[in-house]
Amino acid sequence: MTKYHELKQHLQGNSHAWLITGVAGFIGSNLLETLLKLDQKVVGLDNFSTGHRHNLDQVEARVTPTQWQSFRLIEGDIRNLADCTAACYGVDYVLHQAALGSVPRSLEDPILTNENNITGFLNMLVAARDAQVQRFVYAASSSTYGDHPGLPKVEDLIGKPLSPYAVTKYVNELYADVFARCYGFKTVGLRYFNIFGQRQDPAGAYAAVIPKWVASMIKNESVFINGDGETSRDFCYIDNTVQANLLAATTDNPDAVDQVYNVAVGDRTSLNQLFEGIRILLEPRFPHLKDFKPTYRDFRAGDVRHSLADISKAQNLLGYAPTHRIDEGLKEAMDWYVRDLTG
Ligand SMILES: NC(=O)c1ccc[n+]([C@@H]2O[C@H](COP(=O)([O-])OP(=O)(O)OC[C@H]3O[C@@H](n4cnc5c(N)ncnc54)[C@H](O)[C@@H]3O)[C@@H](O)[C@H]2O)c1
Repeated sequence: MTKYHELKQHLQGNSHAWLITGVAGFIGSNLLETLLKLDQKVVGLDNFSTGHRHNLDQVEARVTPTQWQSFRLIEGDIRNLADCTAACYGVDYVLHQAALGSVPRSLEDPILTNENNITGFLNMLVAARDAQVQRFVYAASSSTYGDHPGLPKVEDLIGKPLSPYAVTKYVNELYADVFARCYGFKTVGLRYFNIFGQRQDPAGAYAAVIPKWVASMIKNESVFINGDGETSRDFCYIDNTVQANLLAATTDNPDAVDQVYNVAVGDRTSLNQLFEGIRILLEPRFPHLKDFKPTYRDFRAGDVRHSLADISKAQNLLGYAPTHRIDEGLKEAMDWYVRDLTG
């Protein structure tokens, strides 16, 4: 039995109070769904800047009415300390997901990204510390590896950030570390590597590659690959990400706390392989994709060329054991996207 399996069994009989910031977003709403199904009490904080009410409606439809009553939504902003304080009241574990994602968005508006991702993060740390929450788990990012050429990426070897977004995520780690040293506050940072799955937004200029491509392919619109398509990523399915969060929040291994971890699978997939993988999965339902080809254009500023994680630290210290490799994740995600985009 895996550590995660044991943890889920334990949680089912023991209810705790969780705060999920960014609860209406992609990762936040998936954390919410899992925690409610485990009969946990959840407070959610979101300002709906990039998140959606329909994500919460979808969670409501998938849990029992009693489980849904264990959820309380606070519509508020992490840039406002009073909202953070209200949200942290009586909470055992914080899963901090709220931030403005996307490298291109941060290049266009570094000040807005800074306000949400650094000021907002610091507000959350202060509020959680003052509310004496047991553990503060936060969404860090693989972008922190920046220009370090080493592959696979190991947590201790980082380079210089390549975008304002990457700066903000690195500063989060520095603040979390300082809160551990100065206040004895317990944090865990999870460096997500290209997470994908149900409820990841396909719309808008800053959409992530998988939902954006799926939506374009279904609509028979052009799919653009930035560069030669040999850029690679360690794509990580949402279920693995949820698992890492729950393990990080509840671990009783003292060596596992005040650390940052890669959250990925340890597989490298090029954009060309990803394109073909999605096309093949969709083709039976969308015959126009039989001879569908991508359009290549320039490399994008701020993008890292290759990204591949060493996940042994999370495996060893947290008991993290990813349940889905990219193919299994894509299959589940495609079923959801087809239902969501065509239903
Ligand atoms: N998706 C990925 O591949 C990935 C990779 C690395 C890191 N991350 C990080 O994971 C976290 C979640 O990302 P996601 O993909 O679910 O994005 P998302 O945009 O779907 O979710 C973010 C949520 O935070 C909310 N939010 C943003 N600013 C807020 C504010 N000031 N106050 C309150 N709520 C606010 C948004 O409305 C949204 O619901 C982010 O911190 C992101 O930087 C994601």
